[in-house]
Amino acid sequence: MADERLTDDFNPLPPETFTSAHETFAEMRQTCPVAHTSAWNGFWALLRHEDVSAVLKDYQTYTTMVQNVVPRVAFTGRRPPLHLDPPEHTVYRRILVPFFTPEKMARFEPAVRRVTVELLQPFIAAGGGDICAEFTHRLPGYVFAEFFNLSTQLSMAIREVTRLYDLALQEADDQLVKQTSLQLYDLARGIIELRKAEPMDPAEDMTSAFLAARDSNGEPLPEAMILGTIRQLIVVGMIAPSVFIGSVAIHLSEHPQVQAQLRGDRSLIPAAVEEYLRLFTPYRGFARTATRDVVIRGRTIKKDEPIALVYASANRDESVFPDGDQFILNRPNLKQHVAFGGGPHQCAGAPLARMMLAITLEELLGRSRHIEVSGPPRMTGWPEWGTLSAPLRIVPAS
Ligand code: HEM
Repeated sequence: MADERLTDDFNPLPPETFTSAHETFAEMRQTCPVAHTSAWNGFWALLRHEDVSAVLKDYQTYTTMVQNVVPRVAFTGRRPPLHLDPPEHTVYRRILVPFFTPEKMARFEPAVRRVTVELLQPFIAAGGGDICAEFTHRLPGYVFAEFFNLSTQLSMAIREVTRLYDLALQEADDQLVKQTSLQLYDLARGIIELRKAEPMDPAEDMTSAFLAARDSNGEPLPEAMILGTIRQLIVVGMIAPSVFIGSVAIHLSEHPQVQAQLRGDRSLIPAAVEEYLRLFTPYRGFARTATRDVVIRGRTIKKDEPIALVYASANRDESVFPDGDQFILNRPNLKQHVAFGGGPHQCAGAPLARMMLAITLEELLGRSRHIEVSGPPRMTGWPEWGTLSAPLRIVPAS
């Protein structure tokens, strides 16, 4: 007999415009905040901020170890830290966090600015084009190569494979996703081999830190897990910026007064980045799996059923963010946004993400006089939300 709980409340696969997903979420927050769909073997979706936040904190009831996204894409081994819950998660997290301190970020800033300008300058000088193809699909790979202190050869390979992997994911080309995913593992292996041959100070280089680390029994970390971590970092840090920057550029095009305001006062840019992260949350939702039967707002979710935490919806929940569809600088409670998730898995790379995005906005606005949309954008599907392509016309600053 069919399970009556498992209704088809929404279709996660409709063709989308720049506004349609958020219109659907707004309606669902009112009418069906705990929703089920039979798509992708069935999953639940939580739309309200309160529910998403509660699940994020309760890692014992809602594990990441089974399925971290819908649709499920990971077909290879476990990749810390995202695929582990505490306490296994903690050792990996402790190694990562010191690489994102304010001091480390300040020292890394010139390198991020250099690669940003290297990519952005010709794009602006040419009068624009598709910012996704020309800039946003490339930038994270360039930053990654700098962050991991790579040789020129490895760095060029990372730049190319990450660009292809990103495109394959966005185009839902499963064959190319598998192929490039395996290439990413090869590259991660290459990074580990490089650091074994040429160790660096573990305080300065993340791969060296993982190789030097010891667990609570004094043993080195399993190499497969180090490999999974490096591979995870390449991807988790890559996709969000690549779909987010186009969304921001579209908003700036539609709001010339915001362009003028930010050009006139660059000190507003970090606050603008934060509000844009809320408004255009690039990870539509990550997933957890229930470890026991639970009831949320009267609906029973059974053990082993996947649950998408719809960050993009939670961040426009009117009960937390009044006028949630509007861009409002310095909202009083902006800190409550969940664009970086929350709880033990809250984005470890958030300081780097914020820096990359602020530098991008500074350089894009500082080097241009005017930005406007020159064609319809193409949008991504789950688990991201943002632009796959965003054609722009840009008038360079004289
Ligand atoms: C706009 C940019 C970014 C956004 C919006 C973002 C968002 C997120 C979110 C929502 C999670 C939590 C996933 C979950 O709830 O299951 C996460 C995890 C993570 N992110 Fe980011 N991220 C960004 C960029 C980066 C960058 C640049 C890095 C580093 C290179 C990074 C490293 C990580 C890591 C390591 C985790 C896993 C943390 C853990 O499991 O403990 N992210 N990110």
